[in-house]
Order: sequence, then C-alpha cells, then structure tokens
Amino acid sequence: MKIVVASDHAGFPLKEKIKDYLHSLNHEVVDVGTNSLDSCDYSIFGIKAGEMIKNKQVDLGIIACGTGIGISIACNKVKDVRCALVNGVEFAKLTRMHNNANVMALPGRFMSEEDALKCVDAFLNTPYEGGRHDRRINIISEYEKEHSK
Ligand code: RB5
Repeated sequence: MKIVVASDHAGFPLKEKIKDYLHSLNHEVVDVGTNSLDSCDYSIFGIKAGEMIKNKQVDLGIIACGTGIGISIACNKVKDVRCALVNGVEFAKLTRMHNNANVMALPGRFMSEEDALKCVDAFLNTPYEGGRHDRRINIISEYEKEHSK
C-alpha cells in the first residue's frame, strides 16, 4: 500500500517509528513532515496528509500530534477524508469496519510505541464491512458535496 505519514513536533518521534515499521512491511511511505522536534503547527501537516488522500495519491494515512486531536481536526477539513482519532487497537479495527476511515490519528504523547504499532497493524489489516455503514458514510459525503464550494 501507499501510505502518507504526518505529524507535528509532538508526534514526530512516533511518526518516525511508524515510518520505519511501514517500510519493514514493504509499504510505500510518503512523509509530508514535520521533520524535527522543533515546535510547529499540527494544522499544516494534518491538511497536507488530507490533501494526499483527496488527490488519491495514497491509499491511507497515519498521522500524529501530542493528543492526536488537533491534527485529526485539521485533516478532517479536507474533502473525502475520514480521519479517526484512535486510542487503542479496538478503535483502529472499528473505525475501519464501521467508518471506512482512510486516516488514523494517534496521540504521540499518550501512547507507547508498542501500542501504536498494534494500532497500525489493526488499521491496515481490517476491512470495511459495508452494508448499513454505507448509508451513514454517504450522508456525510452528500453533505460535504452540497456544502463545499
Ligand atoms: C502541541 O503542544 C500540541 O498542542 C499538539 O501536538 C496537539 O496535541 C494538539 O492537538
């Protein structure tokens, strides 16, 4: 798969671990930054990751900031993004199964590397269930279509 990764400074160490892990699994990784521990704005990187999804340049995204909250809010502003803030393996599985999430946001300051990599496995390996969930997701997509300029 082709996967975009992004973070702010607070998510940077986790992003680097995830990038290494994805490479070890032979995925193609697009890193849109940030690239250091220097303080920066999560919004910029959440939007950059979202743009890669919107433009169909990648299959999925994995992003991180301190809590995962700010970067997920930013990413979800981009059309066609369904970014889920994930705090454990069950959330990673369920957001694929029920929400067909295409981006997972992780809390770099509140999750161990070990748990994060388990979430990565769950996110990449769990299929979308479809069925009744299509209707719910379509309501969001229709709203987005009608209200975006
Ligand atoms: C940065 O200090 C922190 O605010 C940011 O990483 C994130 O947690 C925001 O939601």
